[in-house]
Amino acid sequence: VNVAGVPHRTVRLDGDAVVMIDQKLLPWRFEHVVCRTAADTAEAIRDMTVRGAGAIGATGAFAAAQAVIEAARGDRFEAEVAETLAMIAATRPTAQNLFAGIDAVRAVIDADPRASVQRAIRAANAFADADADACRRIGEHGRSLFRDGMRISTHCNAGWLAFVDWGSALSPIYALHRAGARVFVWVDETRPRGQGARLTAWELAQEGVPHAVLTDGVVGGKMRAGEVDAVIVGADRIAANGDVANKVGTYALAVLAKHHGVPFYVAAPTTTIDGHCPTGAEIPIEHRSEDEVWRVTGPTDSGELRTVRVVSAGSPAMNPAFDVTPAELVTAILTETGVHAPSQLRG
Ligand code: MRU
Repeated sequence: VNVAGVPHRTVRLDGDAVVMIDQKLLPWRFEHVVCRTAADTAEAIRDMTVRGAGAIGATGAFAAAQAVIEAARGDRFEAEVAETLAMIAATRPTAQNLFAGIDAVRAVIDADPRASVQRAIRAANAFADADADACRRIGEHGRSLFRDGMRISTHCNAGWLAFVDWGSALSPIYALHRAGARVFVWVDETRPRGQGARLTAWELAQEGVPHAVLTDGVVGGKMRAGEVDAVIVGADRIAANGDVANKVGTYALAVLAKHHGVPFYVAAPTTTIDGHCPTGAEIPIEHRSEDEVWRVTGPTDSGELRTVRVVSAGSPAMNPAFDVTPAELVTAILTETGVHAPSQLRG
């Protein structure tokens, strides 16, 4: 996707370094971070310099390739690779794509360090390319779900920043917009980290898609007023029965959509489907620091980034990063293979 006319991917491998857009600084600054070791790349996943299921999947694959490169320099090749892959896998627990990315590299490693390095680099790049291609195809399939003039609600950021390119939930919206259809997007702010207000709003503005940011919870009134025609969100993990883990707040949005008769679509590449997870109850939900609820970061009018407290001092907070939406609230799941009823899914 273009930023100021220049094509960019969210994350890429450059030699033995991983180069990624710094999503902690967006939309105030557009900068890249260069991670030269597997440990640095893993830390960038953990601290959400890179975030979004597909993007952390590709970053996990690149970090795994770095692990192989690093281990090939020593004399404990297989043991060191195994330790570093476990460290990468421990960064974030919910997005299935992370484990798919690591496994794509693990599958091509054997006891031969030199040959394993070449195969690991190829496998990581192929995994990232496949993510971008799957998202492009999600956009093509998704066009059939929407009509000209629709007002579409989304939550969090499941756009190109959350993947290598194109995005999942936003991909059909970009495809429609580029084809000349009129679409309008209601963007949930998505506290505590504001992925909607910061990232989705910025992406849509880059593409010139009309939109407005809503603070979390406003969308229910918009549905009641008949101002929402459809909802589309991404997913971090989809269980074999079609239950969907996505950014916290998605479940409430799905209940509202059901109540108001608004179709609720989930878009994700098949790397998000976990066939070993029978239902949503088995999906591990990440709990993050209270600090993310207590404080917000943003620029002052003079452009200086500041962090301020927004919650009464002394009050504890709870910060589950995801919730699970049961399959019966999902109208359809959109993948690179087409539009599916949640009950038809197989991992
Ligand atoms: O915590 P994040 O920002 O990595 O959350 C993941 C997400 O981006 C969302 O849950 C998104 O809707 C699905 S992943 C593309």
